[in-house]
Amino acid sequence: MALSKLLASVVLLSSAVVAQAAAVSQKDFTGIGHIFVLNSSDWSKATPAQKVGCLDDDGRFINDEDVKECGVFARLNTYPYTLSSKNGNCTFDDEKTVANTDSVYGKSDHAWTCNATYTAVIYDELYTIDGFNYPFLCFGDIACYYDAKTVPTAGDRIPLWQFHWGSQQRGITPGHVQLQLLWDKIGELPKREGVKSIPSPRIEVTEGMQVPLTGHGVRS
Ligand SMILES: *[C@@H]1O[C@H](CO)[C@@H](O)[C@H](O)[C@H]1NC(C)=O
Ligand SMILES: *[C@@H]1O[C@H](CO)[C@@H](O)[C@H](O)[C@H]1NC(C)=O
Ligand SMILES: *[C@@H]1O[C@H](CO)[C@@H](O)[C@H](O)[C@H]1NC(C)=O
Repeated sequence: MALSKLLASVVLLSSAVVAQAAAVSQKDFTGIGHIFVLNSSDWSKATPAQKVGCLDDDGRFINDEDVKECGVFARLNTYPYTLSSKNGNCTFDDEKTVANTDSVYGKSDHAWTCNATYTAVIYDELYTIDGFNYPFLCFGDIACYYDAKTVPTAGDRIPLWQFHWGSQQRGITPGHVQLQLLWDKIGELPKREGVKSIPSPRIEVTEGMQVPLTGHGVRS
């Protein structure tokens, strides 16, 4: 009796896993959407159930209890394929924002920000990887993790940095949380003629693949 119940739930669980495992392709990271933040240090196991917040229109990490507070981002479907909110183009490269001074390798990393006068460049592009289970967002040379001091509670607006590591600090900044970003598509861009497809990064992941996706270590 108990065993057949258990077996039934195992079958249900595995069909749910199969249903989810539709691999991501580049078209899944297009249009307009929210950016959810997941508490995750393993892309291969991460799911939307690990959501701990979202990014707001300024690019800050906030609690997502009220999803209306989450920013609405649009991804350019032409070069440089960057993100903007109603506050402007978004970048990790604005020196006016706070640096990750607790981190050995993050001292010159600046918080994600969306700024009305900033012209985005290709280095600001976030991208997803073909084969992911969900459209996680990566940056730079195949790096898919982010760093924040904590998980915000309602009303907090905290900086989000890229995660960088090296021989003196291999893991997340001590006391901080390691995060991933997830695209939550909510619509399409207004239609335009002659839109080309967005180029893929040079990597594709498959089931069970053991690649860290943490970028290169920073030399110190
Ligand atoms: C993040 O996830 C880790 C591992 O599952 C857990 O130990 C930690 O408590 C979580 N942190 C927050 C702030 O949710
Ligand atoms: C917005 O970006 C511009 C260009 O990078 C910079 O000069 C300016 O200080 C930024 N503004 C704010 C409020 O951060
Ligand atoms: C935002 O960046 C895009 C891409 O570089 C650029 O075409 C656009 O003019 C920028 N917007 C502002 C307000 O600078």
